[in-house]
Amino acid sequence: PKHKLFDICDIYQWEGFWYESRILEAALVFKSQFIARDDDFILASTVKTGTTWLKALCLSILHGNPDDKNKEEEILKKGSPHMHVPTIESMIFEENRYAIIEGMPSPRLIHTHLPYNFLSDSVKNSKCKIVYITRNPKDTFISWWYFMNSILRPNEEPFPLEKAFDCFSKGVYIHGPFFDHVLRYWNASLEMPERILFLTYEELKIDPTGQVKKLASFLGKSVDEVEVDDILWKCSFERLKNLEVNKNGYVPYNGLLNASFYRKGVIEDSRNYLTPDMEENLSRLCREKFQGSGLDLYLRR
Ligand code: A3P
Repeated sequence: PKHKLFDICDIYQWEGFWYESRILEAALVFKSQFIARDDDFILASTVKTGTTWLKALCLSILHGNPDDKNKEEEILKKGSPHMHVPTIESMIFEENRYAIIEGMPSPRLIHTHLPYNFLSDSVKNSKCKIVYITRNPKDTFISWWYFMNSILRPNEEPFPLEKAFDCFSKGVYIHGPFFDHVLRYWNASLEMPERILFLTYEELKIDPTGQVKKLASFLGKSVDEVEVDDILWKCSFERLKNLEVNKNGYVPYNGLLNASFYRKGVIEDSRNYLTPDMEENLSRLCREKFQGSGLDLYLRR
């Protein structure tokens, strides 16, 4: 099925999820051709759930050290998190995207917005590790609404919040539906905890030290308190937002503004926008969709 996402683009449904046509094309190639390596780290998320933060944290854990603080060789000063960690199916400006990913040296750090059922058999059958990040749907929705209005159609009247809400709650938007995306990775992480780490934006905000230690240990790095503090400082919202590499320019492979990935970086900003009815609607959807799964994005806050 095909659907018009406001006046931005047509979107297409494939095995229960919605895609822009160029992304779906690239995704299908990756699904059939991508060969995972046992030492790959694959980051996964749906949109606006903390992808940029997770990319930065993993880069800092794997490639940083406290001595490079504020030096030009620090990996986060050399390029945006999205430049270092490509989102494979979003490389729509790169004709030879598959070759680029194949040419990356091991251990590769790569990202996807694709749902779990879309990963290649090679990913599922290899020993590569997957880190999934999600966020409560209320803040995710507001972050997405803002992103569409100011980034994807900056010169137009903003979409009415109610219409955007209808799309989000029905799951009819690029990489939606949110709930199925989250649930499939959640279930997979329960089946294979040694291979799939499930994180939330809220837990990272509330217990950054504990979560970064957990993430580092999952990535095979032991970090002491000084290193954790250094990583958290390097990846903090204010710092990343103000680095030259993130203030200017575009993500080379999809043309999105680097600066567009930094807005407020807080939890519960959605309270300033959602009506009580909308809040209740999303809470109800969470209860219905996650029932019996053990996942509750609200209790986990
Ligand atoms: P808000 O729009 O609520 O501010 P993604 O990276 O998946 O596109 O998610 C973007 C969201 O993460 C935005 O949320 C953005 O501001 C926030 N974000 C980006 N970098 C962050 C950081 N270092 N720490 C916390 N939040 C961050």
